[in-house]
Amino acid sequence: MIKLLLLSALFAHGAEAPSQFQKDAALFQAKCAKCHTVGRGDRVGPDLKGVSERRDKTWIIGFITQTESYLNTDTEATKLLARFNGVRMENTNLNEAQAQGVLNYINTASKGPVGPEEEAEPEVEDPATMVKTPDEGLNLWFPGIAAGLICLALSVGVWQLGFPIPGALLLALAGGAGYWSLGGRRHHLLLGNQQGYAPLQPIAYSHATHAGKLKIDCLYCHYGAARSDAAGVPPLSVCMNCHNAVRRVAGASEPSAEIARFVAIWETRASSAPLNVAWTRVHDLPDFVHFPHRVHVANNIRCQECHGPIQDMVRVRQASSLSMGWCVNCHRQPKSAAPSHWKRTVGPLDCAACHW
Ligand code: HEC
Ligand code: HEC
Ligand code: HEC
Ligand code: HEC
Ligand code: HEC
Ligand code: HEC
Repeated sequence: MIKLLLLSALFAHGAEAPSQFQKDAALFQAKCAKCHTVGRGDRVGPDLKGVSERRDKTWIIGFITQTESYLNTDTEATKLLARFNGVRMENTNLNEAQAQGVLNYINTASKGPVGPEEEAEPEVEDPATMVKTPDEGLNLWFPGIAAGLICLALSVGVWQLGFPIPGALLLALAGGAGYWSLGGRRHHLLLGNQQGYAPLQPIAYSHATHAGKLKIDCLYCHYGAARSDAAGVPPLSVCMNCHNAVRRVAGASEPSAEIARFVAIWETRASSAPLNVAWTRVHDLPDFVHFPHRVHVANNIRCQECHGPIQDMVRVRQASSLSMGWCVNCHRQPKSAAPSHWKRTVGPLDCAACHW
């Protein structure tokens, strides 16, 4: 979707038929931009600005077209691999001509901005998708719909037979099943397992934008996670460190209404009736369980191991079950089962560690 928008934005600028340069630029956006920039710093992979000056052309083309074998055998490539923490560039399946085209684009873009294409950030969030998140549309649950339809049919039947009260009850049941199956279930906390719970928040704050695209460190906002039991949700003052200045989204001509909403809330802080943003809690263990963030974070357990790919979420969703079995399973894992770069010990299994 975003790619489509981007491509159409790219092509809208040229004549009817895209030029070769535009095609190369589009290929770069589609295949490379999620990991590379030209002149905007390292992302998943190195900044490709001036790559033709530091490497020779056959190496570059070879690396792009046979990434797998270069990463396995070529000394330069293995050095790079080590520098990028062992994250392997994926196979992009380009042929030589395409690789040459992409390289032409990189060379041109290295010389400076190349017009509207460059201004379009590869991962710009469409403001519309920030407010209306992908999982917010219809989210059908067919067994529920079937049950709802059966209740509806029964209700009509029972009513016609002259039993209005059971008929009304069945009708209510059908309505409830409909609401639940057409998506309503996402907005309710179920008792027990709440995996997948993703409530709407009062402000359409997106981790995909802040932790993903802008790469803000989790601990910048959730500083409590390294120091205390609770990770905590940042106060508006943290947001205002940037949003004092940032009032519009990249590429937008108007200031963002969503930002204006919480800035207005912030402005009330000195008034007699200060307002605050009431974020809806997503992860919530029962009170009889004690969970310390600090200990886990100090053990180099990444946030994502427990919270899933937060940096890709437009709206936070509970990724793990948070059940007792889930905690204990990980606590049982011996050190050796964990990748070597974690200085990890096993967690406690005695009841009193978690229940007090
Ligand atoms: C999944 C992420 C990813 C994608 C997609 C990707 N790359 Fe890479 N690229 C990397 C990483 C990571 C490295 C560093 C080597 C390593 O660790 O594998 C790299 C290295 C490179 C290098 C060597 C740079 C240097 O400084 O020597 C070039 C050239 C390159 N990529 C070009 C491309 C092109 C062109 C595309 C698109 C066709 C592309 N890459 C797509 C992740 C990616
Ligand atoms: C710019 C500040 C900021 C950054 C950076 C940030 N967050 Fe958040 N986070 C928030 C805010 C605000 C909320 C509350 C609103 C929401 O749930 O979306 C939140 C909510 C959460 C929640 C859910 C809290 C609950 O109620 O259960 C988790 C989990 C979380 N963040 C993890 C992360 C992780 C992991 C990262 C790094 C990849 C990260 N956050 C980066 C601001 C931030
Ligand atoms: C380190 C800087 C920084 C911090 C801290 C920060 N933001 Fe942002 N935020 C940005 C930038 C930059 C953008 C514009 C992103 C873009 O151009 O795509 C943005 C965009 C937004 C948007 C999107 C507006 C729209 O219309 O799409 C919202 C909402 C938002 N931020 C809320 C928050 C909240 C709430 C906090 C505090 C929990 C926060 N931000 C903290 C830098 C920051
Ligand atoms: C070992 C698993 C685990 C790890 C690692 C972890 N969390 Fe959590 N997180 C949880 C659990 C469990 C809860 C629910 C805690 C509760 O309800 O008392 C939670 C709750 C949260 C909350 C909600 C607010 C709060 O304070 O309870 C935020 C925000 C959060 N985590 C952010 C983070 C960030 C950021 C990191 C990484 C620095 C991280 N978490 C690492 C398991 C984890
Ligand atoms: C991804 C693995 C993992 C998960 C999931 C996990 N833990 Fe842990 N936990 C650890 C490790 C490793 C330690 C050992 C820390 C140490 O001793 O330094 C630990 C330690 C602890 C401790 C001891 C703290 C202390 O002061 O020594 C408590 C309490 C705890 N975890 C509670 C929980 C609870 C409750 C959950 C589930 C909600 C949970 N953990 C989920 C890995 C995990
Ligand atoms: C690593 C942390 C951890 C340890 C150790 C642990 N528990 Fe739990 N326990 C939990 C969590 C988390 C929950 C909440 C589960 C939920 O909400 O689904 C829980 C829930 C419970 C419940 C409520 C049952 C339920 O289904 O809601 C009981 C009873 C319980 N634990 C007993 C024990 C006993 C007895 C031990 C020692 C043998 C023990 N726990 C050890 C984390 C732990």
